[in-house]
Formats: sequence, C-alpha cells, structure tokens
Amino acid sequence: MPLTEADLDLVWDTEKRAYAHPWSRGNFEDSLRSGYPAQMLVTPPLPGDNPLQLTASGHMLLGYWVAMAGVDEMHLLNIAVAPEHRRQGWGLVLLQALATHTLAQGHAWLWLEVRTGNTPAQCLYRRMGFLPVGLRKQYYPAGNGQRDEPEPAGPPAQAMNPPTVDPKTALHSLHLDERQRAMLAAMGTPVWWPEAITETAAEAKPAPPPPTPVRPAPAPEAAPVPTPAAAPAADPAIATLSWDALTEAIQSCQACGLCLGRQRAVPGMGNRQARWMIVGEAPGEQEDKQGLPFVGPAGQLLDAMLAAMGLTREADVYIANVIKCRPPHNRNPEPAEVAQCRPYLQRQIELVQPDLILALGRFAAQTLLAGVVPDVDKLPLGKLRGQVYRVDGRPVVVSYHPPYLLRSPADKGKTWADLCLAMDALGYNPLEKPTPAQPQT
Ligand code: URA
Repeated sequence: MPLTEADLDLVWDTEKRAYAHPWSRGNFEDSLRSGYPAQMLVTPPLPGDNPLQLTASGHMLLGYWVAMAGVDEMHLLNIAVAPEHRRQGWGLVLLQALATHTLAQGHAWLWLEVRTGNTPAQCLYRRMGFLPVGLRKQYYPAGNGQRDEPEPAGPPAQAMNPPTVDPKTALHSLHLDERQRAMLAAMGTPVWWPEAITETAAEAKPAPPPPTPVRPAPAPEAAPVPTPAAAPAADPAIATLSWDALTEAIQSCQACGLCLGRQRAVPGMGNRQARWMIVGEAPGEQEDKQGLPFVGPAGQLLDAMLAAMGLTREADVYIANVIKCRPPHNRNPEPAEVAQCRPYLQRQIELVQPDLILALGRFAAQTLLAGVVPDVDKLPLGKLRGQVYRVDGRPVVVSYHPPYLLRSPADKGKTWADLCLAMDALGYNPLEKPTPAQPQT
C-alpha cells in the first residue's frame, strides 16, 4: 500500500531501528512531498500486537521502499524490512513490488546502491537479477564518523534489467549508454562491468584426450629422506590417474620434504563434477589434522563466501590446494614444492572439468596463471584480481586468500566484487541452480 505522511512516525521509527545510519524524517517528508513513489508492505495485526506500532489503517508494518523516477529508469532510494520481521523473505517481496511498479510505470531500468559490506542484501539483489556495475568510493558515512573506507565499504551501484528479462540473457546484455555512464561518473562511480571482463592470452586449447585410469606406481617403502627429483609434471602416470589412484598417490607422496612433517596429506574435497573449483594455497594446522581442505577458521570464512553465492562446499564446489601437505609453521610454499605438487592439481582440474576456477591467494593465482600472465610471479594479488582469465579455455578468477581476509577484513568487499565477477563470467544465477550431485571426498 502507498506510504503516506499518515504513517511517517511509524516508518521513521522503523528506519531508526533498521539502520545504523538511518534516513532523517526530513528525507521521508521531502520524498513524499516531491511525489516520489513509496510503498509499505503490511500484514493484518496479530492479537497482542502493540497498537502504537500499527499503521494508520491498523496494519502491522513489515517494510517499505522509497524510489525516484528518472528518465527511463527508477532509482531505489531506501528500502528496509522491520528488524523484527527479517529473514522471512519480506525483502524479496518488497523488491518484487518495486520491480512490478517500475515495469508498470514503463521504466526499463532499476538502479540501486548497496554497501559492499552488506552481503545478505547483495545476495538478495543478485538473486533478483541485479548486476554490479561499479564501485562508489568513500561516499557513505562509516561508523567512525568518517567516510567509508575507499573500497570495501563503498556501495557499488547496481543496475537491474526488468525481471521479465531472462536473467541469463540479461547477464550478457547490460550495455550502459552515454547518459548512464555520465550519471555514474558524476557520482564518482568507476564502472567495472562489463569492460572489466577480459580474456587474457591463452586461446582455448582442444580438450585433453580422455584419461586412461591407471594405478600409480606404489611409493617406495622406505624413503626416510625424500628426493625432490624430477617434477611429477614429467611423470605421465599422474596425468592419467583415476580419482582413487590420484588420492592414494597424494596421500603417499614423498616427492618433497613436506611429507616429513605432515600428519595427513590433503588431496581435496567436494563434488567431483562441480561447476566451480576453488584452489587455495596449502593446508594449515587443522587441515593437516583432518586431511581436509579449508576446515580451520579460514574455512569457515570460505563457507560463508560460498553461502553468499548460494553454494555449499559439499554439493557445488570442488576444493583443492596447490600444495597438498602442510608447510612447517604455515610458511609460504617454496617454488620447488609448488613444482612437485602442481601435477596433482592439474590432474584434479582435468578430472573435475570445472566451468570456472576461483584462485584464492597469490600462490594459487600464480600457479594457475603461469604461462598465461607474463611475469605473474612478480605481480601482487591486487594486480591480478578483477579480471576473468582464460586458462586452457576455462575462466579463472583470482581473489584474496581467506586467511589474509581474516587478518584484513576490510578487503572482504573486494572479495565480494571478485565473486560477483565470477558469477557473471559463469552466467550463474543462484535461483537456477541445478539439483546438486552426491558429495564425495
Ligand atoms: N586452508 C587450506 O586448505 N588452504 C588454504 O589455502 C588456507 C587454509
């Protein structure tokens, strides 16, 4: 129902409870007096509801939105779900009402801004088909009384094609015209989409021949001192191993000194037919104990990142590390160790045949992009992220290493931008997720 001045007290009270940086009452008044479209989502009251919290028409207020109509577009100015009614799907209902209103008014576009730190809202917008188009820096007030940190807390403007458009098509048909680009430029919002999606070097190579499952040669029985001899890359046995044989080869590997300190090697886990493959660096303490990747605190963060994309580690991704055994004291892997372990990862990629690889951290990025990006080992991670690379014809997106994000949470916003880039590159829409296959480790 329309939001009118009769309900401003209630709406403003809700606004103050909903946000750390709420709109002022004057913002609402100005919007209504200017004739901006504004709606409330309400429900009949339940016995016992506080009558002071009911709308003028005697309903319980669930949420509201205020927008502004532009030339060919609607701009969402404010949207909120009352805190006591969150996590019940009302945000989606409000957005649908807004989208319907937008279309009914003949507008082709719906714009909004969301803080990069507001992951639940971003997830919701993505599910609705919104596309991130840019990042507006140091605009919104931050908790410390200053402006938001340059990137992480700045809200990326998001654009939405009408929901009647097939989201798959929409993902490839967002072309901002000159006026829209000028508008974003005036707002200080550098646009990152779709120009940022570049395909680098390496042309698509023909698919590798189907693997012949062969058991690996058994590891030498007594090998107290590992010989870091020929890189396993040169060993064609690894390139043809079956899943079981590969797992066994990794678990019994003695190709470098890391085997001496390990409790358990960590081959990988997840869905072996996943569309997504996550590549990390090396096992840490917990991973070494459990023989599984990303099970420590960084793993919890990775799970949260996956959840924000509507994915789970068991059903939707295969997770592996560049290095399969824990380096002592979690030190950086050495080049020779990476070289020894790399063929295992290569074989995992060939077996999974993922549609996209997410490389988390410098070592994963450098390993996967070697030969694709010149001098990749000299480039910091910040220079490698923000693009979609092609490696053997497959998209690879680079982002921060979760353990680094635990130390530098301000970069989580950039990580979310990387995940959005990956979802766009894959044309992935969480709403169209196929039924997950059986998880395997
Ligand atoms: N845990 C892993 O398994 N890999 C990493 O890169 C970090 C933590």
